[in-house]
Amino acid sequence: MSSSTAAILALVIILLPPITLAGDLHGFRATLTRIHELSPGKYSEAVRRDSHRIAFLSDATAAGKATTTNSSVSFQALLENGVGGYNMNISVGTPLLTFPVVADTGSDLIWTQCAPCTKCFQQPAPPFQPASSSTFSKLPCTSSFCQFLPNSIRTCNATGCVYNYKYGSGYTAGYLATETLKVGDASFPSVAFGCSTENGVGNSTSGIAGLGRGALSLIPQLGVGRFSYCLRSGSAAGASPILFGSLANLTDGNVQSTPFVNNPAVHPSYYYVNLTGITVGETDLPVTTSTFGFTQNGLGGGTIVDSGTTLTYLAKDGYEMVKQAFLSQTANVTTVNGTRGLDLCFKSTGGGGGIAVPSLVLRFDGGAEYAVPTYFAGVETDSQGSVTVACLMMLPAKGDQPMSVIGNVMQMDMHLLYDLDGGIFSFAPADCAKV
Ligand SMILES: *[C@@H]1O[C@H](CO)[C@@H](O)[C@H](O)[C@H]1NC(C)=O
Ligand SMILES: *[C@@H]1O[C@H](CO)[C@@H](O)[C@H](O)[C@H]1NC(C)=O
Ligand SMILES: *[C@@H]1O[C@H](CO)[C@@H](O)[C@H](O)[C@H]1NC(C)=O
Ligand SMILES: *[C@@H]1O[C@H](CO)[C@@H](O)[C@H](O)[C@H]1NC(C)=O
Ligand SMILES: *[C@@H]1O[C@H](CO)[C@@H](O)[C@H](O)[C@H]1NC(C)=O
Ligand SMILES: *[C@@H]1O[C@H](CO)[C@@H](O)[C@H](O)[C@H]1NC(C)=O
Ligand SMILES: *[C@@H]1O[C@H](CO)[C@@H](O)[C@H](O)[C@H]1NC(C)=O
Ligand SMILES: *[C@@H]1O[C@H](CO)[C@@H](O)[C@H](O)[C@H]1NC(C)=O
Repeated sequence: MSSSTAAILALVIILLPPITLAGDLHGFRATLTRIHELSPGKYSEAVRRDSHRIAFLSDATAAGKATTTNSSVSFQALLENGVGGYNMNISVGTPLLTFPVVADTGSDLIWTQCAPCTKCFQQPAPPFQPASSSTFSKLPCTSSFCQFLPNSIRTCNATGCVYNYKYGSGYTAGYLATETLKVGDASFPSVAFGCSTENGVGNSTSGIAGLGRGALSLIPQLGVGRFSYCLRSGSAAGASPILFGSLANLTDGNVQSTPFVNNPAVHPSYYYVNLTGITVGETDLPVTTSTFGFTQNGLGGGTIVDSGTTLTYLAKDGYEMVKQAFLSQTANVTTVNGTRGLDLCFKSTGGGGGIAVPSLVLRFDGGAEYAVPTYFAGVETDSQGSVTVACLMMLPAKGDQPMSVIGNVMQMDMHLLYDLDGGIFSFAPADCAKV
């Protein structure tokens, strides 16, 4: 080895982030359950919830921070889970108490309601009691975790490192602490989390497990480097697997990969991907880098993969192309307007034959092809339960410079791997019951 090679190697080794040995050895699994069944009648509720959620995510994106303006957009949107979100159990404290929390790739902070509450919403089990846990410890303001909270929501006072996410009518407020946290069968000491003592309305959950890319998220804190999940389809589908660390491994089938996109001007927590093309049936749509890319100032646009959004939202031009392609390739099918908040809907001709629609493939930078398993769903049924109207599980994104969002319906029956260490998003079609 020449000395210059050695020097380069040394440099590379120094520049690499420290490797967490514990993380490399750990592999564990947990389950995701749909908070409420996504039955045909529920789509309008899912669409309404999505619009709140995306407005919140976009708002937080604009400056890469929580805004302090009086936005009608509510933090509550992350918790508002009438339909469409997923819960995961986490166990907290010594002794361990188990709470279902929303598994959210769109945010970082892990938080649960803590007693004594100034105001807590009704949750499945009584709120966590810090005073009854021997491993609970408040985080001081000098802690680096406290510094990771956006400035606009952080206060330091005698209570400790206080956060106050207040947006319009929805909010959660509390303080940072550390606790023993168990996910699946793996336990971790001293995980930073939010003890929320004042909260807006929640429903069938006890808080949030942030699975985003930021430092406060579950993934970097557990040192596992990557996670994967596979959402089961069907209204009666059971629990879906979520895998962490070495178990989050796509080996079977047609695995495709694309790098996550980094843009320092936008929210660093989100899983941005580079959507470069769409094919409907045999037709490649005329997508350009500006269709789904970041806007020139870097503050708008872009495309994220999100576990908490139900439908898929495409920037208007892209959406129109998709819609027109479906319309022109389903000439013999009757179109119905605006059913249940959706846009492109077809009427079944009866006979239980369903509605034949062309295939949908999303293309990502590097050539990865995502053949979408579920992109039409029945939203009206007759008295026998047969689908009478089916709609595209996609809507145009709202706003001037909207972000596009790939939601969880289009993620079903796919095993998705979020490799944070490698900066790569991978996917393969899968029978999620067997993952
Ligand atoms: C925020 O806006 C809402 C509705 O627009 C209004 O009712 C409320 O008083 C405002 N709050 C503040 C603090 O300005
Ligand atoms: C919770 O969600 C369910 C299902 O959408 C709804 O029926 C119920 O009223 C909600 N409860 C609250 C407190 O919002
Ligand atoms: C959480 O655990 C409880 C039992 O402790 C179980 O009934 C429930 O289904 C679990 N929920 C999830 C989301 O895994
Ligand atoms: C710290 O600040 C929070 C939020 O402003 C407030 O609710 C809390 O009472 C304060 N704690 C003390 C000890 O002043
Ligand atoms: C993924 O799984 C395969 C086969 O089970 C194994 O050979 C490989 O080492 C695993 N990769 C990682 C990174 O754990
Ligand atoms: C539409 O219907 C006509 C007449 O029934 C038929 O010839 C044609 O092949 C059909 N087109 C498609 C795309 O099914
Ligand atoms: C659907 O809406 C379009 C434009 O808004 C209109 O031209 C068309 O007649 C409507 N179709 C039905 C079946 O209502
Ligand atoms: C997305 O991919 C296209 C085609 O490879 C490339 O031109 C563009 O710069 C990429 N955008 C980002 C934000 O990386």
